[in-house]
Amino acid sequence: MKPEMNPNKILVFTGAGISAESGLQTFRDSDGLWNNFRVEDVATPEAWTIDPALVLQFYNDRRKEVFAAEPNAAHYAVAKLEEKYDVVVVTQNVDDLHERAGSTNVIHVHGQINYARSSSNDTLLYPLAEGAPIQLGDLCEEGSQLRPHIVWFGETIENYELTRKHIIAAGKVLVVGSSLQVFPAAGILKKARYNAEKIIVTQKLDHKPSGFKLLRGNATSLVSSVANDWLNGNRVF
Ligand code: APR
Repeated sequence: MKPEMNPNKILVFTGAGISAESGLQTFRDSDGLWNNFRVEDVATPEAWTIDPALVLQFYNDRRKEVFAAEPNAAHYAVAKLEEKYDVVVVTQNVDDLHERAGSTNVIHVHGQINYARSSSNDTLLYPLAEGAPIQLGDLCEEGSQLRPHIVWFGETIENYELTRKHIIAAGKVLVVGSSLQVFPAAGILKKARYNAEKIIVTQKLDHKPSGFKLLRGNATSLVSSVANDWLNGNRVF
């Protein structure tokens, strides 16, 4: 039985583009991470087996950049929506910029850069303060090597069921800064209700999911404008 659609519930689905104006690289833009690194060298379980030091270094560098970054106007606009709406942020991003901007209900589907995890027991998580690195020889309480708490290609997405529950109840869905090329994360959007108000803010998008209106441009200006409309009780389109 599908739950009622709640007009006061907003699901915000974000990707690397919302953090780009905070200075963090995206993945598939011309200056993106996957133009400088091969996924198979740094972001798969096989990479971890072959060269764990290289994988640790890749994420230690990302973690330092996240620690040095600040939330931008788009993160703050998303947080401001909580003044009037029940907001759930589902993010593919592993940074903590939504939390630092004040969003109180953030669901990470690809992990979190500020946590280490036991490589033998997924339930053992360890917060990493101030961008601290994970080194070879850093062990969990069961004696296994610590790894980044990141969902690598080929691993199972986190919180999928929780995210599905939220999106089918959302009266508004706002997608920000994702190329929507990675599944099953991007597939979550297919669960959005037909009559929900559905908007995508991004600079470039190859395939727009049906039912969504596209606002092409920068997240900092466009998300602020969408949030203002919704906070004033107006539809965007
Ligand atoms: N404002 C709005 N959108 C932007 C901005 C900006 N300033 N800068 C870039 N974008 C858009 C790009 O046009 C693109 O559509 O953000 C999107 C970034 O796409 P990707 O780099 O593919 O990032 P993302 O969609 O988050 O990738 C999903 O892929 O590698 C995996 O696990 C990784 O979570 C990541 C997943």
